[in-house]
Amino acid sequence: MCGIVGYLGNEETSSILFESLKRLEYRGYDSFGFATIHDNKLWITKDKGKISDVVQIKLPGSIGISHTRWSTHGPPSKINAHPHTDCKNRIALVHNGIIANYLSLRNKLKERGHIFKSETDTEVLIHLIEEYYKPEDGVKLEDAVSSALNAVEGTYAITVISALEKKIVGARKESPLVLGIGNSCFYLGSDISSFLPYTNKTIPLDDFEMVVIEPESYKITDFKTGLLKDKKITKIEWNQKESSKEGFDHFMLKEIFEQPQILKIALNICEEEISKLAETIKEADNVYITATGTSLHAAMTSEYWFSKLAKLPVRVVDSSEFEEKAVLDEKTLVIGVTQSGETYDTLRAMNYAKKNNCKLASIVNIPSSTATRISDITILQGSGMEIGVAATKTFTTQLMILLRLALKLAKNNGETVSSPTMKNERCLLSKDVGDKISEIEEQLKNVPRYIEEALTQKEKIKSITEKYCINVKNFLYIGKGINYPTALEGALKFKEITYHHAEGMPAGFLKHGTISLISDDMYTIAFVPRDDRKILSNVEEIKSRGGKIIGIVSGTAKHFDETINVPRVSDIVSPLVFAPAYQLLAYYTAVALGRDIDQPRHLAKTVTVE
Ligand code: F6R
Repeated sequence: MCGIVGYLGNEETSSILFESLKRLEYRGYDSFGFATIHDNKLWITKDKGKISDVVQIKLPGSIGISHTRWSTHGPPSKINAHPHTDCKNRIALVHNGIIANYLSLRNKLKERGHIFKSETDTEVLIHLIEEYYKPEDGVKLEDAVSSALNAVEGTYAITVISALEKKIVGARKESPLVLGIGNSCFYLGSDISSFLPYTNKTIPLDDFEMVVIEPESYKITDFKTGLLKDKKITKIEWNQKESSKEGFDHFMLKEIFEQPQILKIALNICEEEISKLAETIKEADNVYITATGTSLHAAMTSEYWFSKLAKLPVRVVDSSEFEEKAVLDEKTLVIGVTQSGETYDTLRAMNYAKKNNCKLASIVNIPSSTATRISDITILQGSGMEIGVAATKTFTTQLMILLRLALKLAKNNGETVSSPTMKNERCLLSKDVGDKISEIEEQLKNVPRYIEEALTQKEKIKSITEKYCINVKNFLYIGKGINYPTALEGALKFKEITYHHAEGMPAGFLKHGTISLISDDMYTIAFVPRDDRKILSNVEEIKSRGGKIIGIVSGTAKHFDETINVPRVSDIVSPLVFAPAYQLLAYYTAVALGRDIDQPRHLAKTVTVE
């Protein structure tokens, strides 16, 4: 999604902006642009396409803003690319978000003589700022920006510069913007990764905050009230190696292979953190988990874990549906699962829960992101930066954390149970369940090793994709029980990077309609843990209709046209060991098809709009 970078300091800004903006490419975009101030003039360059196709950006000046655009209003084009400027070419602005009342504002501004060049919603903002901006009467840029922001509806992170003032003004509402504090210089970025090679000192802005950065100082105010804000500087510890491919062809492949290492980190997240959230879950009358995309699939898997292991009915709701569905009160706990901590739908659901006086928790990868700041409790994933748009290592980390939580609650059940269904009852773990829990705990410790083993199948997976997945364009992914979300995630990975059609569903659902699609152009991928008899009968139903099937198997089943074997583990742990197999299946298919693996078309890493 759109990326913003600003720099004010002593160096030539355009090369710093160029390097910094490249670090935001992972978010997904279709056009880019830069604006600097020099000699009391604005210098602008922008275009459609990728920054990586440009050798360097050379603009004079040491104050500037830049942007990668992910189109919402108006197609990708040079005119629609940001920065946008006012009629007098004195001010320039970049924006991430959507201005909801742009049509009525645009009409009013046109009536007042403003000339619009683009089809974007963003352009109304710069003309509105122009309306208020009267430097000759002592109205400064920040005054005009706050007046304009108080007149618009919608979501935004913006940065604005004026040819007449040595400053950058930034502000946010429901879109991320962070300040970086360097040695005699300042940065503004959509996330910390944009400026991390230069400084790890940061202040994330909250909604309705505006920052004015000038050569020697910065000031943060609430643009609704005009009051000064006193914000703490956070120091981020981040491994720089994460932004290089380290010999892998793509970030996605590197991130798939990082999983054993990253999962060791997740296994070492301290027990107190897990216990604290487990306690909060126990104390709540109702528990919802809200998430979207891949994070939703992790949450859906955990729904089975909470119910099977801890006998706890947790409701998982897609964040974009949350307000329509959730029944909330002050005894409800809502847990947001979001790797970025900035996904619009998930933040909206979490804020809705907050308004309804719920307790808020989150499982988040990016430190200091908005989700962490609005939550009462957060578990940080520690997966490191994920650059490939398709989530891989952050997904398996979420699974690991959620399984640890469910196990913690299951063990607590052996002591005192206080759950929504069994409030204040005492229930000792039966020997069976107790044994099962120790087996699962043992397997959980070995997950990094199991994943390493699963990754050794890469050559076989590659050859299967070459034989089966290039010419056929439709795939069904089926799984049962805990592996129904595995099927959804397998299909999502496949479609997002191969652009082939893939649908995930419960294996038992297939015969209720979808089986009519089985043909030479519709293959099936089946997830089979420990020779699960029930799913094997669904597999037979497909075979008897001439359907081709690839089995991803954690056992010995041999009913398939091709089989990818992963280590034999319990059903409970199987979603973790299936992940590398279907991630690689999607990856090698996409490579063979020549797709843009790390930045698939139309996609954004962090979806910060509705
Ligand atoms: C798919 C993918 C997306 C994200 C979704 C939520 O590979 O990455 O579906 O999972 O946009 O993102 P977060 O977890 O940042 O809230």
